Amino acid sequence: MKRLTGIAQLSKLEIQALLEPGDTYPLSGSVGLVFHEPSTRTRFSFSVACLRAGLIPIDLNPGSSSEQKGETTIDTCKNLVWAGASALVLRTSENLLPERVADVVGIPVINAGDGTNEHPTQALGDALTLIQHFGSIEGLTIAIVGDVFFSRVARSNAYLLTKLGARVHFVSPDAADVPNTVPRHLNTNSLAEGLKGADAVMILRWQGERRVSGQYKGSYYCLDEEKMCAYTSPSTIVMHPGPVNRGVEVTSELIDGPRSWVRMQVENGVAARERVLRYLLS
Ligand code: CP
Repeated sequence: MKRLTGIAQLSKLEIQALLEPGDTYPLSGSVGLVFHEPSTRTRFSFSVACLRAGLIPIDLNPGSSSEQKGETTIDTCKNLVWAGASALVLRTSENLLPERVADVVGIPVINAGDGTNEHPTQALGDALTLIQHFGSIEGLTIAIVGDVFFSRVARSNAYLLTKLGARVHFVSPDAADVPNTVPRHLNTNSLAEGLKGADAVMILRWQGERRVSGQYKGSYYCLDEEKMCAYTSPSTIVMHPGPVNRGVEVTSELIDGPRSWVRMQVENGVAARERVLRYLLS
């Protein structure tokens, strides 16, 4: 494996290898960060992960790159390789573009989120968080709630969690419209049905920028402590990949409260990205 473009392509053994603590010796080289969509957590944590591994992150600001003069993203990436990059990290609104870049550049490419397709390093960080709390993923029930249809995080998590033996519930008004190539055990628009038995609830942002209407589906899916008490157990934890829209998909009380594992998700996101960089560059 000399690319990480999705979890769908990985075997259970490859996922487990990426979740193992890696070596700590310093690497050398530079990593091009090519982000065509806004990002806080992924971009910054890749930079921190590079520096921890001894790599130099070089951020290509799309607003001032020569893509503004008509150069294609693939040509841009080729030029970064010719200029000495050891690996590329790509975020794009175009599904499968990281795969196409990886096919031509000849160095490791990491997908930092492509359209509605996948966000593999988010899922790996989330897996480390679940393992940190529960010890193992095997046998867990994970409810993924909200804008599942447009969520690359939901897809990568569904692939990873089912391969590692968890039960996945999609809880969303259009859960059943997600292609059936994405594995899950339940589609439901009912919080009562979807949250029943959940060890963890992954709350998703409503992606107005990807919805034609841009409209939020209503307050039913906005989770709060009252709904958690009604439909889950006191030990059920809450996760969110960020960015959080407070009062839209989750209340501040819940996301800042004792059930929330958001901070650990961010911390583990850095660790997961360092492991991926080391795995691909060692
Ligand atoms: N979870 C996530 O991808 O966050 P950013 O968009 O801030 O990177």
